[in-house]
Amino acid sequence: MTEEIKLNSSKLGTKEYWDNFYKKEQQNFKNNNDDTGECWFDDSDAESKIIQFLINELIPYFIENSTISFLDLGTGNGHLLFQLSEDLQEVIELEGAFHENEFVFHGIDYSSDSVLFAQDIASKKYSNNNFKFDQVDLLSSNSEFLNNNKFDIILDKGTLDAIALNQDIITEDGKRGMDIYATQVKKMMKFDSILLITSCNFTEKELIKVITSQTNLEVYDKINYPSFQFGGVKGSTVVSIAFCRAES
Ligand SMILES: C[S@@+](CC[C@H](N)C(=O)[O-])C[C@H]1O[C@@H](n2cnc3c(N)ncnc32)[C@H](O)[C@@H]1O
Repeated sequence: MTEEIKLNSSKLGTKEYWDNFYKKEQQNFKNNNDDTGECWFDDSDAESKIIQFLINELIPYFIENSTISFLDLGTGNGHLLFQLSEDLQEVIELEGAFHENEFVFHGIDYSSDSVLFAQDIASKKYSNNNFKFDQVDLLSSNSEFLNNNKFDIILDKGTLDAIALNQDIITEDGKRGMDIYATQVKKMMKFDSILLITSCNFTEKELIKVITSQTNLEVYDKINYPSFQFGGVKGSTVVSIAFCRAES
């Protein structure tokens, strides 16, 4: 257990908060078709850095697969998947890259309002694309969805952060959500797949500890963000680390 890493609980760690949040975002979208909601870590330009990293570093690794499947954990409004599919389409059209691959985009979230919102955006704005959104609690002990070992690239932008903002004990052997997160996510990863986590609550060292102390996932690569120096310690406001499932 990653006992020594302790965050304070906050309302962002509750399902009620996210249900209300996406109810409001759905209403905003109904009033204005261009308002597809919040893009987390936008001030660090995280989404475009993640997508560049996927296109330049990770997707080429899977080029031999006829279908490359993405799963976005805690997908919210699905923005990361929508933007990824648009940018991939551009690369395919302009550079002819990946034209032999099919891409599958799947988002899950425990908030049914997030799922309705993402589905609404998909049907109104991306009717040509194959997006799928499902309500799944990734910490659930009895979800069929979790035991699929199905995805090539798993994305998490801010979801482990939200999970870590709930420090309640949720298992009989005294573990919190963040203590079982990696074991749960590994169940959805194919052999040789990648999990790319983007966080603003953990340092690079902490994030590696949270993941590698629970599983045999290994650090594969990371995204570089501008760093700052404070009191002799170097850091950045956002970290993105890719972990690979190299062993069973
Ligand atoms: C900070 S938001 C990030 C949303 C989205 N990834 C983005 O970057 O815009 C955290 C998301 O995690 C979802 N979430 C939190 N705990 C979850 C859980 N146990 N299972 C599935 N989704 C969860 C919330 O509903 C929310 O959509």
